[in-house]
Amino acid sequence: MICLRRTHLFLLFCVSLIWLCSSSDSLQDNFLECFNSTSYSKHSIPVSEVVFTNESASFSSLFRLSIRNLRFLTTTLPKPLFLVTPFHESHVQAAIVCAREKGLQVRVRSGGHDYEGLSYVSSQAPFIVIDLINLRSITIDIEDETASVGTGAALGELYYRIAKKSSIHGFPAGSCPTVGVGGHISGGGFGTLFRKYGLAADNVIDAKIIDFNGRIMDRSSMGEDLFWAIRGGGGASFGVILSWKLKLVSVPSIVTVFNVQRTLEQGATHLFQKWQNISHKLDQDIFLHVTTKVVTDFPSKKTIRLSFTSLFLGPIERLIPIMKTRFSELGLKRSDCIEMSWIQSVLFFADFSIDTPLEVLMERSSPQISDAFFTAKSDYVISPISQKGLEGLWKKLLEEEKSELILTPYGGKMSQISESQTPFPHREGRIFGIQYLATWDNANETEKHLSWIREVYAYMKPYVSKSPRAAYLNYRDLDLGRNYGRNTSYEEAKVWGLKYFSDNFERLVRVKTKVDPSNFFWNEQSIPLLYHYEDDTRITKVHSGLDFEIVQER
Ligand SMILES: Cc1cc2nc3c(=O)[nH]c(=O)nc-3n(C[C@H](O)[C@H](O)[C@H](O)COP(=O)(O)OP(=O)(O)OC[C@H]3O[C@@H](n4cnc5c(N)ncnc54)[C@H](O)[C@@H]3O)c2cc1C
Ligand SMILES: *[C@@H]1O[C@H](CO)[C@@H](O)[C@H](O)[C@H]1NC(C)=O
Ligand SMILES: *[C@@H]1O[C@H](CO)[C@@H](O)[C@H](O)[C@H]1NC(C)=O
Ligand SMILES: *[C@@H]1O[C@H](CO)[C@@H](O)[C@H](O)[C@H]1NC(C)=O
Ligand SMILES: *[C@@H]1O[C@H](CO)[C@@H](O)[C@H](O)[C@H]1NC(C)=O
Ligand SMILES: *[C@@H]1O[C@H](CO)[C@@H](O)[C@H](O)[C@H]1NC(C)=O
Repeated sequence: MICLRRTHLFLLFCVSLIWLCSSSDSLQDNFLECFNSTSYSKHSIPVSEVVFTNESASFSSLFRLSIRNLRFLTTTLPKPLFLVTPFHESHVQAAIVCAREKGLQVRVRSGGHDYEGLSYVSSQAPFIVIDLINLRSITIDIEDETASVGTGAALGELYYRIAKKSSIHGFPAGSCPTVGVGGHISGGGFGTLFRKYGLAADNVIDAKIIDFNGRIMDRSSMGEDLFWAIRGGGGASFGVILSWKLKLVSVPSIVTVFNVQRTLEQGATHLFQKWQNISHKLDQDIFLHVTTKVVTDFPSKKTIRLSFTSLFLGPIERLIPIMKTRFSELGLKRSDCIEMSWIQSVLFFADFSIDTPLEVLMERSSPQISDAFFTAKSDYVISPISQKGLEGLWKKLLEEEKSELILTPYGGKMSQISESQTPFPHREGRIFGIQYLATWDNANETEKHLSWIREVYAYMKPYVSKSPRAAYLNYRDLDLGRNYGRNTSYEEAKVWGLKYFSDNFERLVRVKTKVDPSNFFWNEQSIPLLYHYEDDTRITKVHSGLDFEIVQER
């Protein structure tokens, strides 16, 4: 249904005008007062401990705490007017209600790892940041095999809490302990267990979210459409997710890891070609990814070193014969393998020694990543990259001092889940995902490295997925396209939307239109609405061919 009937228009206007109306009869003339006096926030906690203006002494350190990419610390983009650090759900409600009332935008920050800093900088001021750092309680229920996790928690805290309760349970999510569960799980989330258990988002059984009205909903009250959308579509377009209920998975008490490294001179290209043929078809107990680094080999020749790093869900005895049959070229030896607990493998993949006290997983920032400038892009590979393609890629990597690739094999459970099960569409038929990365230390070099990564991306076009050339939302990339304003149309947004979501994009747009009809939760890559605004009150265009009836449900 294309047409927009009067009744629909009326409903829309009511929704989008609420904040205009209430701001005109306002008794409060600033956000702080509103926040303090909003009925939701009647707590003993003084507002000065929850809301920090950009002029306050604690602002900088709090703001800095969850910034993982220095590009967005030194950016000229506007910073928030306020940092709100809720201790209670009602603080989140008050922040949303007052931001709407005062015409402020909202950004939500969990772990702050967004590749484009969208959780704490914005091209459109004024805005506030709701930083969930204090909403991070974790409850593990081993009998039920579930975890309830506040979205301010990081993956390391979740893994730590699970390991404290059980040595045979785990959760399939990313490898970096400081990544926040808010962004990570709502954008998909993959890690060493995903060939066996799917994405983090595939293992969510319930969630709590606050919408633009400050209403708190769980799975049953939000409905299956919104519950679908926030498991891979990114949370930020829809509201503030407060917590997840997650299904824990089984891990054996003994797992095995290995890391076999070869330089180009040691035949890495041939090994990689074999890897491309088999890594996605291996038993789903084996996760075997490849990372690359530029190294200086003896005698001082720059080369690329490939690391074949694996987590196997079982003992060495069972791994060796499988590797012998499937990937004998790697020449895996018993002495390359180490048996350990699953939680030690978490340390291993986070680049800690496996004897490190587990408490290190509770730390919010890690020295390896917190002081770097970086940029990244992603691709999916559908058929093996040719010898010529690889040689050109290595050459590109060598142009850059700190270039890296992370090559992640798919298959296993990922191929058994349909592309529309969640918004994350990269399922069957993907051999592996690529992440290209460049890191550097000086702000004045940024442009150079951004150009480099764009060149690599252009170079790789013939070798990766096409129409659309797919990308992973959690490796957010504004070069793919962006919203310049609140009224970016569905057609315009398809440029990047189809890359992240493929055919799921349209359903995301419908859900967005239904749950956030005034586009309050806007950002540079938020899901657009089915219609767009000329100003705050006038709809100028409804996208043809799309059923608009859905809005009537509000
Ligand atoms: C060092 C590093 C390692 C990584 N490793 C992996 C990996 O192994 N596997 C993988 O899949 N990904 C990985 N990622 C990518 C990571 O999953 C994404 O960057 C993810 O979005 C980060 O989530 P966050 O909460 O830390 O980030 P944030 O910057 O806080 O949030 C990211 C986005 O989600 C939104 N958001 C955050 N919390 C909420 C909430 N509660 N409600 C609504 N919206 C919310 C933000 O507004 C923002 O748009 C890695 C990233 C880095 C920097
Ligand atoms: C917040 O509200 C309380 C109770 O109404 C009041 O006593 C206090 O002074 C207010 N604080 C600020 C910072 O406005
Ligand atoms: C605080 O934010 C306002 C509005 O964006 C800006 O004018 C002011 O310069 C900021 N102050 C600081 C210290 O950054
Ligand atoms: C990979 O598979 C292709 C096609 O089956 C084959 O031609 C090629 O020799 C294989 N490469 C390696 C290194 O095994
Ligand atoms: C960039 O900054 C570094 C240190 O801050 C300085 O040493 C270097 O000369 C600068 N390079 C350029 C090209 O300005
Ligand atoms: C909406 O988009 C049109 C063209 O795409 C632009 O001219 C207009 O300024 C935009 N309005 C707002 C409020 O962003």
